[in-house]
Parts: sequence; structure tokens; C-alpha cells
Amino acid sequence: MSDNARMKNNPYQVLGPTVPALLGRRDLTARVRAHLDKERPEHVSVMGPALYGKSVLLQEIARIYAEDQPGYLGAAYFDLRRRTPLTDDELRERFAEKLAAAVEKSWPEGSELLRFDDVEITERLGLVARELAQTDDAVLMVMDGFDDVLANPGITSEIWDGLLRIASEPVLRYVTGSRLPLRELCRTEESRTSDFWEIFHDAPVIVGCLDDSDWEAFLEPFSREGVPLDKAARQRLQYWTGSIPILLTALLQSTWEWAEPGAKVSGEDVDRLAERLMQRRRQLLAALWEECTAEMKTDLADLTRGELRVRAVPESRLRRLERRGFVRREGKRIVSACGLVERFVERESAGVSSLQRVFGDAELFQQNVRMLLEVRLAQVPVADPTLHGYVEQAIRHLQPEPRHSTVWVRSIADRALDLIWEQELRDGVTLPESWIIAWQRAGIQHLPDDGHGRVPSERGRQLRLLRYATGLSLIHISEPTRPTT
Ligand SMILES: Nc1ncnc2c1ncn2[C@@H]1O[C@H](COP(=O)(O)OP(=O)(O)O)[C@@H](O)[C@H]1O
Ligand SMILES: [Mg+2]
Repeated sequence: MSDNARMKNNPYQVLGPTVPALLGRRDLTARVRAHLDKERPEHVSVMGPALYGKSVLLQEIARIYAEDQPGYLGAAYFDLRRRTPLTDDELRERFAEKLAAAVEKSWPEGSELLRFDDVEITERLGLVARELAQTDDAVLMVMDGFDDVLANPGITSEIWDGLLRIASEPVLRYVTGSRLPLRELCRTEESRTSDFWEIFHDAPVIVGCLDDSDWEAFLEPFSREGVPLDKAARQRLQYWTGSIPILLTALLQSTWEWAEPGAKVSGEDVDRLAERLMQRRRQLLAALWEECTAEMKTDLADLTRGELRVRAVPESRLRRLERRGFVRREGKRIVSACGLVERFVERESAGVSSLQRVFGDAELFQQNVRMLLEVRLAQVPVADPTLHGYVEQAIRHLQPEPRHSTVWVRSIADRALDLIWEQELRDGVTLPESWIIAWQRAGIQHLPDDGHGRVPSERGRQLRLLRYATGLSLIHISEPTRPTT
């Protein structure tokens, strides 16, 4: 096979516009299915940190139930993170569209009915739900990216209550994917409280790092292609990736690109490829790191600096770190489980620890914040020496009593306003005719000038003028005309 063809056929896909096909995860698949295939099926919530393979798993579940599964008319997968619906109706439309696709084959009339947009969407959904209730079968709706849609203020509890009502008939089964527990998501804002989450089975299916049985499936394409990975190579893959699925996928992807058909891949080869990955895929590591809480980051940073005892970390946090494939226990010690993450944290933690050293408590912060601002000010070009001088004074007076620095803020504001009028107005005081005309057209009752087309002397009124001059105050007025400066 030519290099090009080989690369095109790479079975390892990292992120990308479409959700990659699932490798392994037989155990998790079985756990989700156990709920769905029960005599009385249960709604399932799948939960795990970003990038650990929730979407990949959920898409596979939808694929399985799309055809020929006893008790199911069909299934649909949709990711609410892509084109996140902003309102209830958008979400309903999206839901209907997916439901229509799910029953396309098994119940074409229902699918047509759902797409019949002469009828209001809520009514269409209700109608179809009632029709479906006449059959013994259900439709599986796999809704991924739940965090984002629930965080959206345009989506009200009404929609969840609506979905809840439909779900109380044995018509629809839900599988959701989210980073946080549904219970927390449904309760974030008082106004949107819904009992939607209560219909889900108590224990979510948790997605974390891979287990031993997943490894065979991940390596299978290599053995199929006749490129054996020896024991040493496997050990190094394990060492570098810690069984974190996205890291293993990325490392196997570059191994696949690099390996010659029929050649052998050794432990050293894997090491070299991992080093390269460190450079090229930094953003993946950064994303995994950003998914950690500040405490977890501190644990990981501590680990790179020396010994970390099991006793030193609360059990629940240690379990979270283990589940993510970052650490494991060795007797009484915690050791790193993922070479790539360890390397990344070594570099990153230099920053974490020096920040800690300089700003770690309130007193240190007080002592050092002034120096930080002075360093920053020195980096900014001096556009106006007077203004620069005031900022310098404000910073200097942060110590010992921060209140004294606010005195200077007044001077900064005064000077800034003077600079604006000097710059924007012909003579520093007279407002352009075009501004006045635009404001009059916009129907403004009290023009922000001094009554004679000039800048008012009071600073407070100047601020109002500034808001009009920059169009900020016009946004709420229907007429879209704005003065151009
Ligand atoms: N079981 C798996 N099979 C194949 N690729 C996987 C698997 N798990 C994770 N990946 C890789 O990790 C990436 C992130 O997975 P994804 O399902 O999008 O994570 P999540 O939805 O949890 O944020 C995928 O694009 C893929 O490259
Ligand atoms: Mg996802």
C-alpha cells in the first residue's frame, strides 16, 4: 500500500468533524445495554470528563439500536453541542427532526408526520407520541453534550417537563451524555428546576480510562495489517498513554502513519513517537489538564516534585485521578500512571508553583501584586505621559492601603476623557453636526451636549455623552442610526 493510501486508511481518528468509530469499550457498551434491554427498560445517563470517549460510545449505542433490536423501532444520536439549540422551540424542532430520522424506516408515516411543519411543533410531537404509545416498541433518543444545552438560559424547564411527560409513556428511551451529573445540571438555576433527571437510573455509567480488555481492540488493526507490536512496544504505549483513550488513539495514529507494512514496531520506536506527540499534540494534553480542578492540578504538580503519599490525598479525589488514568497506587505511594501527562505537568507545574510562591496567600498577594502591575505597566507603550504618571501613582499607592490608590482612579478618568475629546473633536469641545442629527433622528429626548452643541463641563454628563457617541446608548432604540466617528 502506498504511504498516501495508508494514511487515508488510518483506523485511528482523533476528534474531527465526525465522531470516530468506537474501538473496545465492550464492558461499558454492555452496561448501557443492560438498562435498555430490561423487561422494563431504564433511561441511562453516561457521564465522564471531556475527551474520555462519551460521544464515541454514545454514537455506537445509537448505531446498535437503529436497526433490528427487539423492543425498539429505531434510534437517533444527536450532539447538543453542535448547533446548540437556543430556545425551547429550537430544541423541539431538533428533537422532532432526529425522531423522524430514527423511525424513517420502521414507521415512514410517523416520520412524515413529524416533518409536517403546517402543524405546530409541540402538537406534532404530542401526536406522534400518542401514536407510538399504541405500539409495544420504543424509540431510543441518544442526547449527547447535555451540559451545554442545560446551561442555556433560553431553554426552560418547560421543555424538560415536556420530554418528561413523553418519557412517562413507554414510548421513548433516553440515553444522555454529560460531564456533570444530570441532577446538578437540571438544578443549576432555580427557574429551570425540573425533575427530568429523576427518571434516569440512579447510577450513571461512568466513562474513564480504558481497561485491559479494551487494549486488544485498540491494537487489533495492527495485527490485522501484519504489523506486530511486541511486548516492549505495548508496555511503552501503556507507559506513555496511561490507557487514556484519546492519548492512545493519537499515539497509535502516528504509529500507524509511521510504520512500514510488514515491519516491526519496537519499544524505542514508540518512545520516539511519543516524544514527537508531546510537541505536536500539546493542545490535547492541555485540554486534559484544563479538565482538572485546582486541587487535582496541585496533586499532579506535587507528584512531579517528589513523593506523594496515599494518605495526603482525599480518597474521592484520588479515585478521580485514578479513573482518569493520571495516577495509580503503589502500596502507600501514589505514582504517575501516564508518561505524557507527567511530562506535560512537569512543565506546567513550574508555572503553578511559582504563582503559588508569589500569590499563594492573601499576604503574599498584597506584597507582590504591586510589582506585578509595575512590570506590566513597563511593558505598555507610553501614549500619554500624564496618564501614564497617574497609573503609576495608582499602582504605587496600592500599598500599604489599597484605598489610597482609588484616589488616582479619578485623575485617570479625568485625563482619559480629556484625551478622548481632544482626539475626537475638531477643537476639543464642539460636537460634530452629524452626531447631533443622528441623535435627533433616533428620537433622543435630552441630547447629551451642553445645550449649545458642545461637550458639557461636568464629568458625569461627559460619560453620558461618551455612551451616545460610541453608540452604546442607542442600542436600545429601534432606529439603527448611529453617529459615525
Ligand atoms: N473507544 C474509543 N474508540 C476510538 N476512539 C476513541 C475511543 N475513546 C476515545 N477515543 C478518542 O478520543 C476522542 C474523544 O472522544 P469523545 O467521545 O469525543 O470524548 P467525549 O465525548 O467524552 O468528550 C475521540 O475523537 C477519539 O479520537
Ligand atoms: Mg462529547
